Amino acid sequence: MEGDVSIIMTDNEKKLLEHAYEEVEKKRNTTKMDPYRQVFHLMPPTGLLNDPNGWIKWKGTYHLFFQWYPYDTSHGPKYWGHYSSNDLVTWKEEPIALAPSEWYEKNGCYSGSAVDNNGVLTLIYTGNVKDEEDRRDSYQCVATSTDGTHFTKLGPVIDSLPDGYTAHFRDPKVWKKGELWYMVLGAQTVEEKGRVVLYSSANLTEWDFKGAIAGAGIGGIVDFGYMWECPDLFSLDSKDVLIISPQGLEQEGIHYQNKFQAGYFIGEADLDNVIFHHGDFAELDHGFEFYAPQTTMDDEGRRILTAWMGVPEQDEETQPTVTNGWLHCLTIPRELRIHEGRLWQTPVKELQKLRHNQESIKETLSANELLVFDDLAGPAMEFMLTGLEEIKGIFEWTFRNEARLIFNGGTHLLTLERRNTRTHLTEQRHVRLDSLKYLHVFMDASSLEIFINGGEAVMSARYFPSEKDTSLTMKTNEKVTVSLDKWVLS
Ligand code: FRU
Repeated sequence: MEGDVSIIMTDNEKKLLEHAYEEVEKKRNTTKMDPYRQVFHLMPPTGLLNDPNGWIKWKGTYHLFFQWYPYDTSHGPKYWGHYSSNDLVTWKEEPIALAPSEWYEKNGCYSGSAVDNNGVLTLIYTGNVKDEEDRRDSYQCVATSTDGTHFTKLGPVIDSLPDGYTAHFRDPKVWKKGELWYMVLGAQTVEEKGRVVLYSSANLTEWDFKGAIAGAGIGGIVDFGYMWECPDLFSLDSKDVLIISPQGLEQEGIHYQNKFQAGYFIGEADLDNVIFHHGDFAELDHGFEFYAPQTTMDDEGRRILTAWMGVPEQDEETQPTVTNGWLHCLTIPRELRIHEGRLWQTPVKELQKLRHNQESIKETLSANELLVFDDLAGPAMEFMLTGLEEIKGIFEWTFRNEARLIFNGGTHLLTLERRNTRTHLTEQRHVRLDSLKYLHVFMDASSLEIFINGGEAVMSARYFPSEKDTSLTMKTNEKVTVSLDKWVLS
């Protein structure tokens, strides 16, 4: 698999790609006119985007692929869309990397990852196949590129299931340790319980099944969802971290409020003995839209995460962007660190390049006074609100009359409220904090990402304010002095 690889495309692949490009060009201008198009978030040119895939810094350039159904806003057979960037801020739309043209992927080139194999950019992904009776087959497949743009498919490298697993067997995340390649896969046992399994390989084409490394029946977990999707296993700050997107967790108070979750375990992975010793599961995000995150390590040694700012089957089709032919976006890239036994997420520093027109305001609000900023400079802004330790009562911060952050200084509960696109009623998500010090908010035309206390917790949400409403308000039930820095992002 090393050395020069010339690009080979089947006729069917050529045909599918031509068709996709034609359809995208027909619809591109309609999507462009949508007021909810994001300013600094990655979104599909047309159609539906879901998971980030193949996230890698390769030969000095960041490559970020994504699950894409280019034709409309449904979950049709997925393609791999492709963006590249030198700075994580300005992104270039690249040609489609993978189209579901072959028998082993005919119902979708599903999620996967990318590695650099001696200079060859190598994608490892799941070929999803369904027959007339909707029975599923899953193949783990490989495609390679020497230019980072055009890919040659090598076909399935894992084409059978180990005993005890269903065909919900997908989303390979591959990395190299020493001389060996390792792969974690999201899996479901025949008892319909979620697990992560481990494979190893000397060459990326011949893989050995090592066993289940985490999940139902392993390391103290009895039952934790019926399927684990999109695993990611990596070392960080002298620990190992396993990220998963489990399906089928029941809501427990303020936990697991979304239809499906994404979170992590911290521990120690013993790859030789195929076991991951870990602590409790923790959610990565406490907002409404966050799923299927993927990380990569860049040349600076940073572990950077991005996720789908959406959740499968959670009010997807009622988002108003559907009318203009597109749906969903990715989160901003976030750097991960372990701090006091938990994952902290901070926006990558490069995003500061987007900042313009800084304004700093210090205001003392008296009880029940409404502080109004009624003319935001743009739909895309960054805010840093400090001085919040003083809050003992209720503090509220409203964004364009469509979403609201509420902090209760008595219970230490931070609540994000927004209007639901299906029911039009307000709905809430919560996170309990030891204390609230500051809020760092990234607001885009149709999303909010709220970083709490420098990354201790994050709340992400799509929201769809009226175009005309450019207001921001703050309110408290007792005197408090706050400092707000704001920037226009463009
Ligand atoms: C997660 C997921 C993956 C799958 C992909 C298909 O959102 O269901 O498990 O590979 O989406 O688009």
